[in-house]
Formats: sequence, structure tokens, C-alpha cells
Amino acid sequence: MVNLHTTIGSFGFDNVLMNASGVRCMTAADLDKLADTVAGTLITKSGTPEARTGNPSPRAAGLPFGSINSMGLPNLGIDYYIDYVEKFQEKHPDKPIFLSVAGLGPDDYHVIAKKIQASNFTGPTEFNLSCPNVPGKPQIAYDIPTTRRILDDMFSFFTKPAGIKLPPYFDLTQFDDMAAVLNDYPLTFINSMNSIGNGMAIDPETDTTLIKPKGGFGGIGGTYAKPIALANVRAFRLRLRPEIAIIGTGGVTSGRDVYDLILCGASMVQLGTVLGIEGLGVFQRLTEELSAEMAKKGYTSISDFQGKLKTLD
Ligand SMILES: Cc1cc2nc3c(=O)[nH]c(=O)nc-3n(C[C@H](O)[C@H](O)[C@H](O)COP(=O)(O)O)c2cc1C
Repeated sequence: MVNLHTTIGSFGFDNVLMNASGVRCMTAADLDKLADTVAGTLITKSGTPEARTGNPSPRAAGLPFGSINSMGLPNLGIDYYIDYVEKFQEKHPDKPIFLSVAGLGPDDYHVIAKKIQASNFTGPTEFNLSCPNVPGKPQIAYDIPTTRRILDDMFSFFTKPAGIKLPPYFDLTQFDDMAAVLNDYPLTFINSMNSIGNGMAIDPETDTTLIKPKGGFGGIGGTYAKPIALANVRAFRLRLRPEIAIIGTGGVTSGRDVYDLILCGASMVQLGTVLGIEGLGVFQRLTEELSAEMAKKGYTSISDFQGKLKTLD
């Protein structure tokens, strides 16, 4: 009998699967529907200090092997999501829910963290330091001194379970440098990774970009992202303190994709593009596919293969 139980810090979950922030999680109604699936838990849309309408449309499109988006962080504001997670934890004390938050600049993280610290929410917060889609705002986690400044400030008063959502990195020295920063703070988890910033897709009929914001540049997710997500999860698992759990995100469309992220070291796996395209039934399908993959290998629990990737050297 296969068991998909996993842990992040002191939190336990019956299934390794959950949604990725930004996909089918904007409103309380969306979040309630996610909570009714077989997913281990759910995460909110990234909340910013004020509600935002986001970028002009068309701002997201499906591609042959994934998606491109430049949503620009449309959301109902941090107060809305704090209210939702506070009520959720009262109703479901056995199902820890994740709160995702994002700042438009470094100072926003101070404001957001103060609000969460003052709230009744005791679950994990994912601080998104990697949104590629707000015009004129860089992805913070590509800037090491600014990342340090935010974390120094935050952990001077923030005592609740916290994680960071990272962008993809590409050079091995980038993993060394960022892991050295992350290892200095009492993080419960990281989430690797956000969409691959600033790709482009073109409509061949009209020679025009598929999305409107930022002259057509947008974040890439889905199958295109899988090898990069595997490398990012693996690279951080080899470098981070073992107490810092990793949520693997990027490129999942099958149970084998989930398995591969766990093999690279993920403790939980989030679904973005595939959840947007296929809908909520994807959690059941991938639960069955992952269970079948594990059964085929004779595994009964996640710990049987988590982080046990083999290499040829
Ligand atoms: C339409 C859309 C909106 C997104 N919004 C957010 C967001 O608000 N916060 C965030 O951390 N990531 C956001 N993401 C990134 C996803 O959470 C995920 O990291 C990325 O899409 C890679 O996963 P995938 O390959 O499964 O799509 C968004 C992605 C998409 C497609």
C-alpha cells in the first residue's frame, strides 16, 4: 500500500501534491474548491499590500509545451488572504494551509511580514521573491544584497514558519551564492521554482506576440520548465541545510514528473500550468500515477526515494 504522506518543518500532509500560487487560487471560492480535492493542501494567490488588477489582457496563453504569462500579480490584497487562511485554520486544524505573499519592492516585505506576525495565522508563509511579471520591478532573488537585506529585516521580528519562492537559476555559482544566503536564516522551506522569466511566444499568422504586457515578454511554465526545475531542486538540495525543506515546482504534467522532483529532493510538489489547463481533476490523476510509479519500484513511502537520485559519476 503506497503512502504519500510528507512533511515541511513541523507540518504534516497526506499528499505531496498542492497547487502552485497564482493558479485557480485567487478568490475564497477558488480556494474552497482546491481544499475539496485530494491535494495535500493549498496555497493562496500571492497577496500584495494593496489589491491589484494586474497587467492588461491578453496576459496569459497556452503553448505547445506549457504556458506564457505576464499577469502582473492581480490579487485581492494581503488582508483578504490573511482573513481566508485564519478562518481556514480554525475550520481545518489538521490541514495546514500556505499563505503566499509578494512585495513590489523590498519595503513591502516588511509591511507584509508585520501583518502576518500580528495575525492569528500560524501556518507556513511563502514569500514570493521571484515574480517576473511586474513592469519595472526586478525579480528580487536575483539580487543577493537586497535578498539579504529583506531577510535580515524580516527575521529580526518574524517568528512564524517562513519560506522563500525562488526564480530559476542557471549557473552553478548562482546556486552556491544563493544557498549561502538562505542557510544563514531560520527558513522552514524554499520553493523552487517560479516561472522562467521573460520568455516570448509569437503568433505565426500575425507575427505578433501572444501576450500584451511588457512587449510580449512573460514567464514560461509547463513542460519547457521541467529540466530546469529538476536541476534547481537538486542543486539546492545538495547545498541547503537538511532542515530547510524544498517544494518542487515546474513542468509537472505526469506522475513521473512528480516522482522526478521528489527524487531530486522535493518534499512537496506544486502544480501550476497543468492545473490551469486540466482543472482540479489533475490532483486525482497525478495521485494515481505517482502511486503506480512508486508501486512499480516497490516503494511504499516518499522517504523510500526522496533525494535518492543516482548519477553516473
Ligand atoms: C497564470 C499564472 C499565474 C501565476 N501567479 C503566481 C503568483 O501569484 N505567485 C507565485 O509565486 N507564482 C505564480 N506563478 C508561477 C507558478 O506558481 C509556478 O511557479 C510556475 O508556473 C511554474 O510551474 P508550472 O511549470 O507547473 O507552471 C504563476 C503562474 C501562472 C501560469
